Formats: sequence, structure tokens, C-alpha cells
Amino acid sequence: MSRPQAGPDPSEDPKPDRTRTELRNYTEGERIGRVFGTYLLMHTHQTVEFVRAKSAQYGSCSRRRMSAMEALELLDQLVDESDPDVDFPNSFHAFQTAEGIRRAHPDKDWFHLVGLLHDLGKVLVLFGEPQWAVVGDTFPVGCKVQSSVVYADSTFHDNPDTKDPRYSTECGMYQPGCGLENVLMSWGHDEYMYQVMKFNNFALPKEVSSAWGGGLGTPGSKFDLYTKQEELPDVQQLRAYYQGLIDKYCPGQLCW
Ligand SMILES: [Fe+2]
Ligand SMILES: [Fe+2]
Repeated sequence: MSRPQAGPDPSEDPKPDRTRTELRNYTEGERIGRVFGTYLLMHTHQTVEFVRAKSAQYGSCSRRRMSAMEALELLDQLVDESDPDVDFPNSFHAFQTAEGIRRAHPDKDWFHLVGLLHDLGKVLVLFGEPQWAVVGDTFPVGCKVQSSVVYADSTFHDNPDTKDPRYSTECGMYQPGCGLENVLMSWGHDEYMYQVMKFNNFALPKEVSSAWGGGLGTPGSKFDLYTKQEELPDVQQLRAYYQGLIDKYCPGQLCW
């Protein structure tokens, strides 16, 4: 029901430039105040009711029309305030992740594209949503807070669901063993992007959508984390390659 807090095994490819202890450190570091503040707001305001309302609001993908590349360019304006590891715009993170996957799996072009698109749902911030409703790790709503959730002990005290008898027991609104696919996660960029992909019929392999729930899913999450470096890719030089993949798998104007 909960996702592991630490990243995937760094002994696997890609070769990590930064170690597990350096990355995803939520207790110290220069960005820790900003990160904690984002999670405090998230864990205060993400309730069952909030998640259902946002899902209904954005599920029809009727907010805007733009291409995948235009959405990516919007992320030039976004620094993810829940990220303890980097301070640069999210568009660079997209290219870093995609290039990491491309190095390790040169033959799987759809996987390169998944790397590029995996955080595109963060355009919600550019639509006016606060960061706490978009970025960061998601968690199951509607039941007792799992101890594996980031800042589980120090950020949920003002969340009304924690005082609601329907949602505050061990299983809350779920039947025991109901399966992860029936668990309602906090609202954020992953769920939104999943809905955008479905709505626009992206021509990606089936396993992509089933893995989407946990960010990049198991095969991709290590690239999400271990490609985070201060050295930024030359985006201009990479653009033509990725435009080709967009044209192949999710061309033209998309509904957002
Ligand atoms: Fe993400
Ligand atoms: Fe990411």
C-alpha cells in the first residue's frame, strides 16, 4: 500500500553519480525548509474529498490544448519545491531522466519518451494549482497514515481525515486485501498525467499505464532519481530526437 521511501537499488544501472544517502535526504540539507513546508501543506489538505474533487475537475482534460513539447517547455518555469535534491527547472529533469533511460535501453524508444513525459503532469502548477497539490510523493488517503510516508509523524495533525472515523482506522474506507488498484492516492502529477495519457490515447505499451501509479513505476524510478545531476543537458541538441518520439506516440495538440 505504501511506496518505499528510499530510492531503488543504486547498484543497478544507471551508474549513480550521487549515492543513496545523498539523495532523498528529508532531515537535513539546504532545501529542507522548503521541502518540509510543501509536505506540511500536502498532508494537511489532501483528503478523500479533495482527491475526489480534483479528479473530477481534471479528469475530462478540458482545461487546455497543447502539444507534449509545449507542455515540456512550460516546465522551464517550474522548480519542484518538494525535491530535496535539485533546484533547477523540471524540464531539465525530464531530459536527464530520458537520456539516462536511453543510455541503458537504447532500443526501447517508447521508454525514452516515458522518461521525458513522466513528470509532465506538473503543468498543473502552471494552471494555478499549489505545489502541494501537484508535486512530491503521493500517499493513500482514506485510511490511517502509513509510517513509511515522508514526515508521517510531523505533518498530518491538522488533516481533518485523521479525525474522521471513516478514514482513520488501519484500513479506513478499504476492505482488507482490496488491492493497490482500489486504493485512492493523494492527488498529484502522476494521477493527472495518467488521465491525460488515457484521454489522448497515447500509443505506448500497456505496461506503461499499469506502472504509472508509482511515478515512473519500478523499471523507471531509478532513472528518475539517479540521473539528478547539477550538470544540465543541452536541451536544444536533444529536442529533434524527442520530437520524433512525440510524433510517433503522442502527436499533435493534446487535451489537458
Ligand atoms: Fe514525478
Ligand atoms: Fe521525476
